[in-house]
Amino acid sequence: MYRTHTCGELRINNVGEQVTLAGWVQRIRKMGGMSFIDLRDRYGITQLVVNEGDLNTVAEKLGREFVLQVKGIVAERSSKNGKLPTGDVEIKLLEINVLNSSLTPPFTIEDESDGGEEIRSKYRYIDLRRNPLKKALELRHKMAQEVRKYLDGIGFMEIETPVLIKSTPEGARDFVVPSRMNPGEFYALPQSPQTFKQLLMVAGYDRYFQIVRCFRDEDLRADRQPEFTQIDCEMSFVEREDILSTFEGMIKALFKNVLNREFSGQFPRMSYTDAMKYYGSDKPDIRFGMRMTEIKHLVGGKDFAVFDSAEYVGAICVDGAASYTRKQLDEITEWVKRPQVGAKGLVYIRIAEDGIKSSVDKFYTPAELKTIADAVNAKVGDLILILAGGRKKTQEALGTLRIEMGNRLGLRDNANYAPLWVYDFPLLEWDEETQRFYAMHHPFTSPKPEDLDKFYSSNKDDVAAVAANAYDFVLNGTEIGGGSIRIHDSAVQKRMFEVLGFSSEEADYKFGFIINAFKYGAPPHGGIAFGFDRFCALFGGQETIRDYIAFPKNNAGRDVMLDAPSQIDGSQMDELFLKSTVKK
Ligand code: AMO
Repeated sequence: MYRTHTCGELRINNVGEQVTLAGWVQRIRKMGGMSFIDLRDRYGITQLVVNEGDLNTVAEKLGREFVLQVKGIVAERSSKNGKLPTGDVEIKLLEINVLNSSLTPPFTIEDESDGGEEIRSKYRYIDLRRNPLKKALELRHKMAQEVRKYLDGIGFMEIETPVLIKSTPEGARDFVVPSRMNPGEFYALPQSPQTFKQLLMVAGYDRYFQIVRCFRDEDLRADRQPEFTQIDCEMSFVEREDILSTFEGMIKALFKNVLNREFSGQFPRMSYTDAMKYYGSDKPDIRFGMRMTEIKHLVGGKDFAVFDSAEYVGAICVDGAASYTRKQLDEITEWVKRPQVGAKGLVYIRIAEDGIKSSVDKFYTPAELKTIADAVNAKVGDLILILAGGRKKTQEALGTLRIEMGNRLGLRDNANYAPLWVYDFPLLEWDEETQRFYAMHHPFTSPKPEDLDKFYSSNKDDVAAVAANAYDFVLNGTEIGGGSIRIHDSAVQKRMFEVLGFSSEEADYKFGFIINAFKYGAPPHGGIAFGFDRFCALFGGQETIRDYIAFPKNNAGRDVMLDAPSQIDGSQMDELFLKSTVKK
């Protein structure tokens, strides 16, 4: 037997027992003739003491991260360490068995390591020994178990779907895999199991879920990886309400069983239109107020060209920020002009003790400024920030500014959770560049029944105005999940492909299987998928998902440890009938 106990297990009531432990050397300290070794495993750290001549000779040759098996007697410590659960005891060693040596690790295995991102990624298996990463993976494991327990408990079946498939459009590029046996042909890796879960509904498996890997070749960000995991779900004979209440139940169970938090009543809900109007975002962070107010009707006709020419003028009221200095306001003005925000400039109104002052005093009387202040419920001590321009762009820019002010004022506390359902998204987005519609969610999302006439209209504006029976789950300003009630009528599905600009032949070539399946008794169905990595990161109080994935990719989509992607050799290329045009 390699060990009788783990390194996190021994307590004062074990004193006097002979034990065997196995683990890694965290650190060694020498004091007088004695050596103290901290032995670490997944469960904790136990202090070992060597005070006997022969063993000291062995101890002297040990280094950090050596793997040991040790035998000894549990003793009470004279100076206890209140920070360690095992801190009341130490092991007086009788035997040290070196199971393996280790090179000196390239960075310290401490909560705050001295290693930079790059080196830690290269040696991920060493980085994973650190506590913060271990805790992240433990949280992920617990979340996965809770999801399975909850969904199994209400009759969901976990069914696996293939990874080598034909492209499933979710708006990103596909990763493709060449087929040796079918020269010149390629599989695509699934961006999600969307079509399969719908086919499972046609097959009669009316409650499906899968914790499943998805692949998307898109630009990466803190909350995006090229391969990521979804909790993918689908149900038959349901309406939106059934989906929202079922998965609200799952989310509440996760909050309760993982974070020990309870939510009373229903999660708040908001239409997409309201989300854009009040928060300038389809994923509002409702941990704080600072809602946007449209003020165009209050500011026109005063010869201020910026406002007069703008389609939209919107304001936020920043509580208690009237004391911002000119310098701070200039800096915020520069901030909104950054390309990522995209505003042309910023107008401010300060509601100070000694009166209202603004950057547009030339154009507006104090009484007019007061009308604006009243419209946004500003009181003495507040600061009003105003952006103007095209409607959608400016709403989004003001929404981004709102988040930034929330950050600056410390209103986005990661220990608070504000869940939200957003519903009734537009079905389609018009793209000026390619002069065509794209599905806002995906092409299998159904139009709202009351908009079906518009959906069949030959007028582009009518089609653009169709609402989708789609919903997102948002947590603290992050989109965690998205889903919809699906099209289950093959004629409506055909119309959708037509609206998206596919010829009938193209639609048949790409999606014939699903159009056909719908001809064989497809039940009404709908579903949702949650970004599991994002869910875990938010539960862990973090914004980046990388640490919640054991072996993630970096921002350039590379696995630094494996050094992948990489070239393959010529014979492998030949076998796959491939030729690269890249000269290296
Ligand atoms: P959607 O494309 O909205 O829906 O994806 C669902 C959720 O997956 C997460 N997500 C990601 N997480 C990490 N890295 C990525 N690159 C990434 N892309 C998406 C997000 C998102 O909310 N088939 C539909 C679901 C459905 O209709 O049932 C789908 O995939 O948290």
